[in-house]
Amino acid sequence: MDRNVELIRITERPKPPRPEEIPLRFSETAVQELDALVSHYPDKKSALLPALWLAQREYGGVLTPEAIAEVALRLERSYAEVEGVATFYTMYNKQQMGKFMLEVCTNLSCMLCGSYRLLEYLEEKLGIRLGETTPDGLFTLTEVECLNNCGDAPVMQVGDVYCRKMSVEKMDALIDQLRGSDEHSVTRLADAIVNIQLSAADKARIASEHE
Ligand code: FES
Repeated sequence: MDRNVELIRITERPKPPRPEEIPLRFSETAVQELDALVSHYPDKKSALLPALWLAQREYGGVLTPEAIAEVALRLERSYAEVEGVATFYTMYNKQQMGKFMLEVCTNLSCMLCGSYRLLEYLEEKLGIRLGETTPDGLFTLTEVECLNNCGDAPVMQVGDVYCRKMSVEKMDALIDQLRGSDEHSVTRLADAIVNIQLSAADKARIASEHE
């Protein structure tokens, strides 16, 4: 048997948390936002994708089993159904990422414009390999497919922004800027996506209830 293969007996698979036994972490504002999002759809189930973004924000950038269980509870779905959706889409984080995700596009246009050189530069600069997180928890380095901004290649996404026409010099400046910042983090991205889906009236109403 290959020593590197991790085996687990089917009967020993970790059980999902029981929603009624977990400490719920959605803030009062998040609950109001979820109610507003649900009101945009004919039923609760249809709000599953935005609800998962909300959970990703509320749980610090990662959909833990508890986060999935809380969404299942609040949308009155099964854990398996919510987990199935969360694990289908790569934009939902199932493991803890760094505060910032550096997502370098390596698709055709970006590759031709040097994205692999930039990736190697980042690996060396940060002391990590692709897919890893720096020991201080600040940066996770990943590669992604086309970000639909090919005319400005090479492109990378950092949270809620695209960094365009990247170079080694721009990369240095970006990393320095991020080190002392709360902008463009994984939770900011989740917050931005939630906010895009709330109407102006939703936001005004929720804000007024917290005055
Ligand atoms: S190939 Fe990189 S944005 Fe399209």
